[in-house]
Amino acid sequence: MKLLVTGGVGFIGSNFILHVLDKHPKFKITNVDAELVGSNRQNLKDIKNNKNYEYIKGNITNKKLIERLVSKTDVVFNFAAESHVDRSITDPRPFITSNILGVYTILEAIRKYRKKFIQISTDEVFGSLKSGSAHEKYPLNPSSPYAASKASAELLIRSYIATYGCDAIITRCTNNYGPRQSPEKLIPKVIFLAEKNKKIPIYGTGKNIRDWIFVLDHCNAILRVFFKGKSGEVYNIAGLNEIDNLTIVKKILKIMGKSRDLIHFTTDRPGHDFRYSLNSSKIYKELRWKPSYNFERGLEYTINWYLKNKDWWKSISSKDIISTPWKTR
Ligand SMILES: NC(=O)c1ccc[n+]([C@@H]2O[C@H](COP(=O)([O-])OP(=O)(O)OC[C@H]3O[C@@H](n4cnc5c(N)ncnc54)[C@H](O)[C@@H]3O)[C@@H](O)[C@H]2O)c1
Repeated sequence: MKLLVTGGVGFIGSNFILHVLDKHPKFKITNVDAELVGSNRQNLKDIKNNKNYEYIKGNITNKKLIERLVSKTDVVFNFAAESHVDRSITDPRPFITSNILGVYTILEAIRKYRKKFIQISTDEVFGSLKSGSAHEKYPLNPSSPYAASKASAELLIRSYIATYGCDAIITRCTNNYGPRQSPEKLIPKVIFLAEKNKKIPIYGTGKNIRDWIFVLDHCNAILRVFFKGKSGEVYNIAGLNEIDNLTIVKKILKIMGKSRDLIHFTTDRPGHDFRYSLNSSKIYKELRWKPSYNFERGLEYTINWYLKNKDWWKSISSKDIISTPWKTR
């Protein structure tokens, strides 16, 4: 089996590659990544010499490159995306380019070579939910340019399934946490700042709710969808841990033995969705997949990973971690 993974130098993509090579050592993986925001070359340093792994620095909007790579693969897993909501508020353009044009480029290649395509999407496409949980057919109602770019990609994929009969599946996941995530994102940011006894910025009241999933549970779910999922379908993937941001920060500080005085409330970001919630009974019932990591256990593991892997942080300074990034860029 030959896999083309895009965005594999980033957080989820790198965990996915390591997970696949661990569970299916005979699979061959090509990773293409443009080394943009969220990427960290250290993420895959341990498999540099694995004969079943090949890395190519390149952009998914590069038609020639993507056609060449897709022609040689069995399936494309698209993790490549601009993924930081705050950055999409100050400058939506890179989001339109990577998340929409990039997906269009892959779609054209999989249409030409008749290959399978798995698109990694997000619960953010549904926008904020006051109550209840969004099932797969719930209306898309994105609030940020990031979420709108991911929703646009989904619509484009659906059109290629309907019009050209492409073999594609969309997965939508909730907030991931775990090793190798950029410190611009909540959990590594809090660990990084707490370790240095720096103030920890929290937007608004900190009451915004997200569902959290351990990254390896997400990787497992994607594999299950690949092996057992039905072409043309969408599968929601929830972690079953709906928690507000302030509670998460307090949990991290407690595990690290740090004072809550480090918490510092800042101006909320515009269009900040209050709550995301996914109904993922479809994947439970049809593909018999459920998350297996308990949040407390996963969080402790994650904190220990960052504390033990100081090398990974080497290039990051606390000056790079801005309290209201949507304002300042
Ligand atoms: N992090 C989450 O909680 C979460 C939740 C649900 C879905 N997702 C989706 O999962 C995917 C991966 O997210 P992540 O958190 O690992 O993001 P990330 O920012 O850590 O990694 C994204 C990677 O994509 C690469 N990339 C971006 N644009 C590219 C392009 N045009 N060509 C080639 N490479 C490009 C970057 O260099 C980076 O290595 C994204 O599609 C995101 O929308 C993330």
